[in-house]
Amino acid sequence: MNNFDFYNPVNILFGKGKIAELKKHIPAGANILITFGGGSIKKNGVYDQVIAALDGFKVQEFGGIEPNPHFETLMKAVEVVKANKIDFLLAVGGGSVLDGTKFIAAASCYKGEDAWDILAKRARVETAIDLGAVLTLAATGSEMNSGGVVTKAATKEKLAFGSPLLFPKFSVLDPEATYSLPKRQIANGVADAFVHVMEQYLTYPVNSPVQDRFSEGLLMTLIEEGTKAYDSETPNYDEYANMMWAATMALNGLIGAGVQSDWATHMIGHELTAFHGIDHAVTLAIVLPGLMAHLKDKRSVKLLQYAERVWNIAEGSEEERIAMAIVKTEAFFNRIGIKTRLSQHNVGQDTIDTIIKRFTDRRLPSIGMIPDVKIEDAEKILVDRL
Ligand code: NZQ
Ligand code: ZN
Repeated sequence: MNNFDFYNPVNILFGKGKIAELKKHIPAGANILITFGGGSIKKNGVYDQVIAALDGFKVQEFGGIEPNPHFETLMKAVEVVKANKIDFLLAVGGGSVLDGTKFIAAASCYKGEDAWDILAKRARVETAIDLGAVLTLAATGSEMNSGGVVTKAATKEKLAFGSPLLFPKFSVLDPEATYSLPKRQIANGVADAFVHVMEQYLTYPVNSPVQDRFSEGLLMTLIEEGTKAYDSETPNYDEYANMMWAATMALNGLIGAGVQSDWATHMIGHELTAFHGIDHAVTLAIVLPGLMAHLKDKRSVKLLQYAERVWNIAEGSEEERIAMAIVKTEAFFNRIGIKTRLSQHNVGQDTIDTIIKRFTDRRLPSIGMIPDVKIEDAEKILVDRL
């Protein structure tokens, strides 16, 4: 196993009715800005629960944070924070609202000229406003990690940022807050969490049975509970609760500690969202089968382990077992309604050329954190997914 530091200070408040406990976790006298998205929280009752729970606090709100949150929108929130001396941010929504709020927290305190540098130049976050979260969509893990992804609409750039100062102080995970999710977002959540695990698991063996068995347990849970939740006519508490906890555990640092992580699928996927607006999880479901096929020899040890332990594939040659595992993975995404071919999203060779040019302009030595996906590999993977 590799050396690692593991630090995760997020207080998780999990379960039915937990929104009502918000007050206990926000400093008395805090001047709060509630941040949210396009309005789902006002239709499903979550907003009302949050407002009721914050009775006695000074509360203002900033709505309209879009999916794949825009830098331009978030900078408007920064103005509100500064003008009103906000000292606590409460993000209520999915990954986009949480990520956007992390950015607001950092940008509001940023001393440099252009807060975009936090993303483009990875400028260090020296101070940030404290934040908490009420999660309404299980997917990204943003509720228990310190990273985020923001898009500059003007230039179609989607970039990541992070700092230990951006861990939420707490995150409320009430599965009932996700009951109103449309099937498309349930599927997205399952697929995103699934690929988060794969990015940390399907790499190279370092003798890490703890991380591997955790990862396989998460993948199997996402397959079983995700399929059930996707199929259910009405939400079932346990299915939603298990899905939610699996998604959080998939990207809170635990399974990635001491192993080799990749993130090439995400890096390629972000470009598909930036240029075509395809849902984050859908881009991953498109790219991952191509990446697995392209790296089938280099990553064969983990692929065979995945085939056997997650999909019960024990028969056939090594090549056949790996091929079957890739088929099963893509079929799972399709089973929950995700279209996994670029052509099904009207993306053609021209977009691949644009993405490859961007990677080349950025002089990326490799796409993810492992040198086995270089720019030319990314091109082959994308062409394979047309
Ligand atoms: O905006 P509202 O009206 O709230 O509607 C949202 C949005 O349209 C809706 N929604 C959320 N909760 C709902 C609901 N609709 C009904 N009922 C509810 N309970 O769902 C839509 C999508 O929301 P969004 O927040 O965009 O989805 P998600 O949680 O998948 O977040 C995606 C963003 O997170 C980033 C992605 O790149 C993308 O920008 N990621 C963040 C990561 C992190 N911080 O660690 C890691 C991920 O890999 C990912 O990159
Ligand atoms: Zn993701």
